[in-house]
Amino acid sequence: MNTNQELILTGDRTTGQLHLGHYVGSLRSRVELQETYKTYILLADVQALTTHYDQPELIANSVHQVTLDYLAVGIDPNKTTLFIQSMIPEIAELTVIFSMFVTVNTLRHNPTIKTEARDRGYTDLYYGFLGYPVSQAADIAFCKATLVPAGEDQIPHVETARKLVRRFNELYAPVFPEPRILTGERLGGLDGIGKMSKSMGNAISLNATPDDVKAKLTKAKTDPARIHRSDPGHPDICPVYAYHQLFRSIYADDIHASCSQGKIGCTDCKQLAGGAINELLEPFRERRNYYEQRENEVKEMLIEGTRQARNTAKETMLEVREAMGIRYFDV
Ligand code: TRP
Repeated sequence: MNTNQELILTGDRTTGQLHLGHYVGSLRSRVELQETYKTYILLADVQALTTHYDQPELIANSVHQVTLDYLAVGIDPNKTTLFIQSMIPEIAELTVIFSMFVTVNTLRHNPTIKTEARDRGYTDLYYGFLGYPVSQAADIAFCKATLVPAGEDQIPHVETARKLVRRFNELYAPVFPEPRILTGERLGGLDGIGKMSKSMGNAISLNATPDDVKAKLTKAKTDPARIHRSDPGHPDICPVYAYHQLFRSIYADDIHASCSQGKIGCTDCKQLAGGAINELLEPFRERRNYYEQRENEVKEMLIEGTRQARNTAKETMLEVREAMGIRYFDV
């Protein structure tokens, strides 16, 4: 990081609960960053609509669940401004302006858009879906964010945001800083195939109970070379060993040695990994429970965060209009 004054913006689509992959990929660093920097976190319900427009009730419910996920992992509403994307109409306004400087082909070649379109079996692309990186650029720019802690799949989107703000600044006036991404670690799924993702059914959600965690780990794939307990294992390619590392299990070093020498079985190793995950999740469960009992407090906090974000957005849009010479009058 080359500046000491960062402004953080990040967020998640509200299409379901968050899981451990989100935690190591980004939530963990957000909890640290909020101690030092002004932080905005948005509940990206408009972006959720790009793929789930036919399930608005799922989106609204997820706004609630993802808010609890944030609070549970330690996002502190006194330090972080949490807000709802669709409640900030200025973001939509800025999206329209940014959409003037990006071509359809650039968006079509965005690798994350391509992968998502393929995974979802889209043959033609919805306009809103194709354009969500533009809307994401507006999410980042409205508050003049400099740093975006997010998973590695977000790299192309932050790149688009950089290009859009640079173009705006060149064309009109230097209003926006160029944002950078801060990627976290990548967590493999329980199936040992891709990354952890809810749609692949290979995830452990942040609100999993201790028994859920154990049951999921029991079914997790391990190094396929190990058939008998005494077979030497290859922890560096084993998804369960990766959990020991990523969740900072105190057993990680010992397990590396004993697995390589065929001295520990996968069942025992999974038990220990499950223990480390449950230890991580325990304080999250307590905080979730605390906030679940205080629905009004949570709502008030979202209202306050959204109000703050809205004020910032209004100020930025005045600057945008000023820069473009289209601030005809104030209404
Ligand atoms: N695209 C992100 C995701 O899939 C969500 C998101 C929306 C976001 N706007 C953002 C992330 C701005 C970082 C910055 O979860």
